[in-house]
Amino acid sequence: MLFRNRFFLLLALAALLAFLSLSLQLLHLIPVSVSKNGASTKSRKRILPDPVTEPPVTDPVYEALLYCNLPSVAERSMEGHAPHHFKLVSVHVLIRHGDRYPLYAIPKTKRPEIDCTLVANRKPYHPKLEAFVSHMSKGSGASFESPLNSLPLYPNHPLCEMGELTQTGVVQHLRNGQLLRDIYLKKHRLLPSDWAPGQLYLETTGKSRTLQSGLALLYGFLPDFDWKKIYFRHQPSALFCSGSCYCPARNQYLEKEQHRQYLLRLKNSQLERTYGEMARLVDVPTKQLRAANPIDSLLCQFCHNMSFPCTRHGCIGMEHFRVIKMHQIEDERERRQKKLYLGYSLLGAHPILNQTVARMQRTAEGGKEELFALYSAHDVTLSPVLSALGLEEARFPRFAARLIFELWQDRGKPTQHAVRVLYNGGDVTFHTSFCRDHHKRSPKPMCPLENLVRFVRRDMFAALESGSTNYYDACHTEGV
Ligand SMILES: *[C@@H]1O[C@H](CO)[C@@H](O)[C@H](O)[C@H]1NC(C)=O
Ligand SMILES: *[C@@H]1O[C@H](CO)[C@@H](O)[C@H](O)[C@H]1NC(C)=O
Repeated sequence: MLFRNRFFLLLALAALLAFLSLSLQLLHLIPVSVSKNGASTKSRKRILPDPVTEPPVTDPVYEALLYCNLPSVAERSMEGHAPHHFKLVSVHVLIRHGDRYPLYAIPKTKRPEIDCTLVANRKPYHPKLEAFVSHMSKGSGASFESPLNSLPLYPNHPLCEMGELTQTGVVQHLRNGQLLRDIYLKKHRLLPSDWAPGQLYLETTGKSRTLQSGLALLYGFLPDFDWKKIYFRHQPSALFCSGSCYCPARNQYLEKEQHRQYLLRLKNSQLERTYGEMARLVDVPTKQLRAANPIDSLLCQFCHNMSFPCTRHGCIGMEHFRVIKMHQIEDERERRQKKLYLGYSLLGAHPILNQTVARMQRTAEGGKEELFALYSAHDVTLSPVLSALGLEEARFPRFAARLIFELWQDRGKPTQHAVRVLYNGGDVTFHTSFCRDHHKRSPKPMCPLENLVRFVRRDMFAALESGSTNYYDACHTEGV
């Protein structure tokens, strides 16, 4: 009970602080540091810094709350902002699925009791939840590439299955969809009201949680869409690399990165002690407990305001949670410094970035297809893309994270196009490696499309040790 009360207090405090910070920002009460030439001085520091709520030292519980992305916390959104002489012409959305049930169970403990059916009068609420369920039950297999057509279109188990999307996850994406609807459809009229099937591009991995997240976002974006106009493609690879997945150098970087992770873990004696204690509590060998990735299950219980499991030897506690979560944060910090993950990311993210750039170029050349693209994916998809774009300071993708590319056309010079990049509503365009320097040299309100194209087609490989200038060579250069 003590634990629960403390937890609730923390949760309430975090929500209050987030709300206060948002209100202060809206009222422009927080001074934004501006350098002489008018550019923000904080460009290399934390992305999306929150001067009010951000604790002075890293707090694992605060970080965990951000990761949960509880739908009660209002958030800022900078999507769809551009000077008046620019017209929005296409939008590309990469999401992580919403809140889900754990993928692993802690050995010899009771599974957390979470209900994955959708119930309108259960928290978190959403006014469109019932309509969403009713619309999903009218869907047919014809709207999905095989094997997606065998998946349920919304979560529906009274005791969640492993990895199943929860009601929280559905609500998170209904909200994302609605937000994008207000900005892109109502304000910018990205799609005509009688939009054609080819104007949407929808793609998801073969997990029910990604398909259902994509559907929830789509329903928020286009309520009561016509099922006959919808077609979700299946992406077999979590990297969204389709026909270009074979890349030996990428795997070499990954192996080295995993070795780095292993060494860091060995160095952390507090972490080893914590795993040992937890293993004794649940009465299994430490190795077995560690292999069960207990933080995944603990995070789920944390996000759902449940107490951690107990056995007759005692309870898993907040101290254990803090130590493991803190190690995750330190691991991410070292990962940024050592650059092995960057090598993996550049090669891993190239295919999806290349695909996105190709879509943007077709639109820039006057094409009227694929104006709104949605890729429904995983943390292991978003994380390399963020790293490849040079957004190292961005936080690990939370539940229902969204990364958006906007393509804008200059009305005055219709052959000129610009891109904006947004992560969870924050404008990170001038933090990316393809526009950071451009902006420092001569600050302009928008980043030219050519910068992104040049980066993806050639410059992104320059950061690799092999010094290749194209994907094929970079993938097949040995001895990284
Ligand atoms: C968390 O659980 C406590 C105790 O069961 C309850 O009083 C509180 O309202 C819950 N908090 C939230 C945010 O649901
Ligand atoms: C990148 O896109 C171009 C143009 O669409 C295509 O020709 C090329 O094969 C793509 N490269 C990779 C590695 O996917």
